[in-house]
Amino acid sequence: MIRRTTGLAAITASLGAVVLLAAGCGGGGGSSPATQGAGSRGPITYVQGKDNSGVARPMIDRWNAAHPNEKVTFKEQAEAADAQHDDLVQHFQAKDANYDVVDVDVVWTAEFAAKGWLQPLKGDYALDTSKMIPATVKAATYNGTLYAAPKTSDGGMLYYRKDLVPTPPKTWDEMMGMCSIAKQHQMDCYAGQFFKYEGLTVNASEAINTAGGQIVKDDGKTPAVDSPESAKGLSLLADAYKNGNIPQQAITYKEEESRHSFQDGKLLFLRNWPYVFNLASTDASSQVKDKFAVAPLPGLTGPGASSLGGHNSAMSSYSGHKATAYDFLKFLVNDENERWYATQGSLAPSLTALYDDQTLVSKLAYLPVLKISIQNAVPRPVTPFYPAVTKAIEDNAYAAIKGDKTVQQALKDMQAAIQAAGS
Ligand code: GLC
Repeated sequence: MIRRTTGLAAITASLGAVVLLAAGCGGGGGSSPATQGAGSRGPITYVQGKDNSGVARPMIDRWNAAHPNEKVTFKEQAEAADAQHDDLVQHFQAKDANYDVVDVDVVWTAEFAAKGWLQPLKGDYALDTSKMIPATVKAATYNGTLYAAPKTSDGGMLYYRKDLVPTPPKTWDEMMGMCSIAKQHQMDCYAGQFFKYEGLTVNASEAINTAGGQIVKDDGKTPAVDSPESAKGLSLLADAYKNGNIPQQAITYKEEESRHSFQDGKLLFLRNWPYVFNLASTDASSQVKDKFAVAPLPGLTGPGASSLGGHNSAMSSYSGHKATAYDFLKFLVNDENERWYATQGSLAPSLTALYDDQTLVSKLAYLPVLKISIQNAVPRPVTPFYPAVTKAIEDNAYAAIKGDKTVQQALKDMQAAIQAAGS
């Protein structure tokens, strides 16, 4: 793909192209993505999913004011994780030189790295990760190499109506018991994200892990989901859906639909990510400003297990302007912007120290709780074949929740499909 450039940038880019062409002729193997755009500066594009929290644009505006010759264009993708994934795959397959810096969900690192689509962050592109939460660094690493800059992490939290439930439930059973309060107020009781997409993999994994089950063994790949513990976990969701504690329409909920239900005052308990805290507090239409609080996810006897979420920034191997892309990548994770994510969007920063920073904690009282949630969060399977693995989880969890399959059958099928995905 040809990039429109001006002045010096154009000369550098065309010289680069000549060098690459020459290398391609001599070696017979085409240009190497690792060297493409190396040292080159100029306008770049930053790609990420829907900016629900309004953090990206102001940050890009600040960058652009300071870098008039290396402006960043913001390409905002769709809202759902799966659509973002598929868009990235298409552009990587087309070797798009204009998808310079991209937002990578923690679960895509292995797949994209194994395909050679992400520029390794070493050598000229090394990044200091010593001040970052180790779990976030691990989620950006594949086979011992860092491929992305940990930008924001994510841990599931329980949002609850503190005006109706003064003490939040510590266990799932306690929460189900409190559904009578929802009934009294003609509200729905509990929802997470149960539409058939990545968010369902997150929610089903949380239920399974909370009950002591595992999707895969500690090696991150060997399927281990067909167990009595997993059955207990998945049954929590299936039973609640059947008896109405999880409302029927929750099967259509992704993050945003579930947030709206809570913000509209229709839902007593919501499992969602930290970004909801800011929007439910500040959205003009929110009916629950000052009426909600957050607590750890409820478990069987104590706190439940969150899935580890989060978004990292990576440079595309095909970027035509890698020197600029690298500087922008470092900008995205610098101290100022990590604070910005927290204060502006109640997103979970990757810098460990910010969780104990008194200025931040006085504004976002839940930060210490969130840090513990992230540190203990369970990663989803780490595999280049993740799309097939997550499909195995989503499809079967969906069928079990809807009652189309028994929980036992769903787990057997899930186990077999995860096994097939990796072979
Ligand atoms: C959030 C998480 C991400 C997860 C997605 C699922 O964006 O940060 O890791 O895959 O939700 O919908």
